[in-house]
Amino acid sequence: MKINENYLNLEQSYLFSTVARKVNEFCKNNPDKKIIRLGIGDVTLPLCKAVIDALHKAVDEMGTKETFRGYGPEQGYDFLQNAVKGYYKKRNVELDTDEIFISDGAKSDIGNILDLFSQENTVLVPDPVYPVYVDTNIMAGRKVIFADANKENGFLPMPDFNQKADIIYICSPNNPTGAVYNKEQLKKWVQYAKEMNAVILFDAAYECFISDDTLPKSIYEIEGAKDCAIEFCSLSKTAGFTGTRCGYTIVPKNLGMLNKFWLRRQTTKFNGVPYIVQRGAEAVFSEEGQKEIKENIDYYKENAKIISKTLDECNIWHVGGKHSPYIWLKCPNNLNSWEFFDYLLENIQVVGTPGSGFGKNGEGFFRLTSFGSKESTLEAMERFKKLFG
Ligand code: MLT
Repeated sequence: MKINENYLNLEQSYLFSTVARKVNEFCKNNPDKKIIRLGIGDVTLPLCKAVIDALHKAVDEMGTKETFRGYGPEQGYDFLQNAVKGYYKKRNVELDTDEIFISDGAKSDIGNILDLFSQENTVLVPDPVYPVYVDTNIMAGRKVIFADANKENGFLPMPDFNQKADIIYICSPNNPTGAVYNKEQLKKWVQYAKEMNAVILFDAAYECFISDDTLPKSIYEIEGAKDCAIEFCSLSKTAGFTGTRCGYTIVPKNLGMLNKFWLRRQTTKFNGVPYIVQRGAEAVFSEEGQKEIKENIDYYKENAKIISKTLDECNIWHVGGKHSPYIWLKCPNNLNSWEFFDYLLENIQVVGTPGSGFGKNGEGFFRLTSFGSKESTLEAMERFKKLFG
């Protein structure tokens, strides 16, 4: 046998695993220190009441012969597909249920979707960006090119029509920078994708953090996007499903074979999301669920404000945090990203994510998340002030 040597071209370990390993080592050597984790974007608030009620009800159904369910449809139950459909309709995006595929989260589908594309495609990825886009393509041996995101372009790179790409990744609101594209900017990307005969893989995992109605939450709010874009979304950040696992992927039928191929791929390699979880997910889209998750999102946004205010007071340059749970800051004292990570860990035991882990343009930057509790966010910021205030 021959192994897939493309794996040798990857960083030795996944960014968040490296961070976790370093933090664990520190904890082992300093058992008396209290760590505050503002690194990986993991939620801390519990699932909302509407979801919990729906989960309980579904558990009971599974315990009764008449309502017990075995294998479900690989692409999701129609009750959840219809709930997602209704959610998009509120934004004037019309979808057919067979364009909506329920998944166990955006990360898996973003990786799995690559099964549909030839290895010869050139992939365009913004830098810095969520490392999964790059790593999954390196694993498949595809050529990856980058669109530079930096302070000058507000971390929102625009297409270069002289550069050929076949698969284009866009994440808005962006992980890690928190930057959000407006409609005009996304129109340009759609125009570019059409001109290149390319497909956009649009990661909308943070859409619910957008609080300005003029900003697009879905790529399909842009005319023509259904002809050239696949959209991924997740309930992880929206409704606290990081541990419960549920998301959805939209593959429009206008994309021709891709919709059929994705169904074929999923029916072959995936057995669907558990019925119980899908009932919980359905409740997220109910009136009550929407109200409750908004309260949670507002809580995280308040944390983002606390972080942003402290960074202002400490004269630390930063962006994001407005329509996103992430705050992207310039490391003070010209430290590089990992130096700053170590500096914070050793001096104030606050954990963040080194910007360089998201790409070369992230070097010298650092990401903090607002997903902690209010108390720990306040405490982390007090510690920041002692160090930089
Ligand atoms: C992050 O911290 O970037 C995210 O939590 C990673 C993810 O969603 O997989």
